[in-house]
Amino acid sequence: MANLTLNSKVQLNSGYDIPRLGFGVWQTPTDICEEVVKHAFKSGYKHVDSAAAYRNEAPCGKAILSSALNREDIFFTSKVPARALSYENTLAQVEKTLKETGLTYIDLMLLHAPYGGRDARKGAWKALVEAHNEGKICSIGVSNYGVHHLDEMEEYIQELEKEGKGKGGVISVNQLEIHPWLPRTDIVEWCQKRGIVVEAYSPLVRGERMEEKVLQPLTKKYGKTAAQVLLRWSLQKGLVPLPKSVTPSRIEENANIFDFELTPEEMKTLEMDEYSPVCWDPTIAKLEQ
Ligand SMILES: NC(=O)c1ccc[n+]([C@@H]2O[C@H](COP(=O)([O-])OP(=O)(O)OC[C@H]3O[C@@H](n4cnc5c(N)ncnc54)[C@H](OP(=O)(O)O)[C@@H]3O)[C@@H](O)[C@H]2O)c1
Repeated sequence: MANLTLNSKVQLNSGYDIPRLGFGVWQTPTDICEEVVKHAFKSGYKHVDSAAAYRNEAPCGKAILSSALNREDIFFTSKVPARALSYENTLAQVEKTLKETGLTYIDLMLLHAPYGGRDARKGAWKALVEAHNEGKICSIGVSNYGVHHLDEMEEYIQELEKEGKGKGGVISVNQLEIHPWLPRTDIVEWCQKRGIVVEAYSPLVRGERMEEKVLQPLTKKYGKTAAQVLLRWSLQKGLVPLPKSVTPSRIEENANIFDFELTPEEMKTLEMDEYSPVCWDPTIAKLEQ
């Protein structure tokens, strides 16, 4: 753990590497998004998490293409809108994201949430697999999938695989809201057992719990902010945190988390027995929803 750095990566089931720290752009306004992402690159981030629903794929693409970094050293994620999952819509969304961003490939494309029923989810996944097999997307995955959605996926991956080798696809990532007040141990275990990388969204609890007492001894001991302690917790849980900020000093602060390490006892003090989402919670949606 001690040798984790801002350049650390982890290998996905697809065989591609993903940087251990990401940079989220949900609610980053379109008109400032390019500048914000450029500042993130200057601060050392190499991994940007966007979505069609965020309406800022285009400025992310501009920041990526105008960066001094090589394209292959940047990892870009987008997501298929949750309310429109289907085979056709997913194929169309991949083309739209490529066009909006100006990129020739997308590093990771996720289904934003498991809505629409089994056929919608299976069709959307089949489309992602096809786009991957055509080289348009390097890795594919899901977001906000609970264990029951993932169990169902395993079934239809096997069904699709019967149509031909490689037609079922490989789940590389599940992206979920995770922080000490929402550890989601069941879903994380399901994924980690299968080598699926778990990305943690809202890792800063959207800034709502920075004053929590449990964080104070840790901020004091390490001379770090509450945000930095939360991100360190996330990294040490084996997650890929995706902090968001539009504030230059916070963008830098949130990347400055590689010079300290929480002890196993300190990690335990952050094991809260709570289920307190601060965002939406599609992981509990019924399969027919
Ligand atoms: N898949 C999904 O369904 C889903 C859902 C939600 C989020 N996400 C992804 O995860 C990313 C992060 O999640 P999030 O945006 O919900 O929440 P977050 O990263 O937990 O928190 C962002 C909030 O914290 C503030 N903040 C950032 N750094 C701070 C610091 N060092 N000290 C104090 N406050 C700080 C930000 O303010 P300023 O910006 O004003 O600095 C913003 O208000 C998103 O941008 C998105 O990419 C995915």
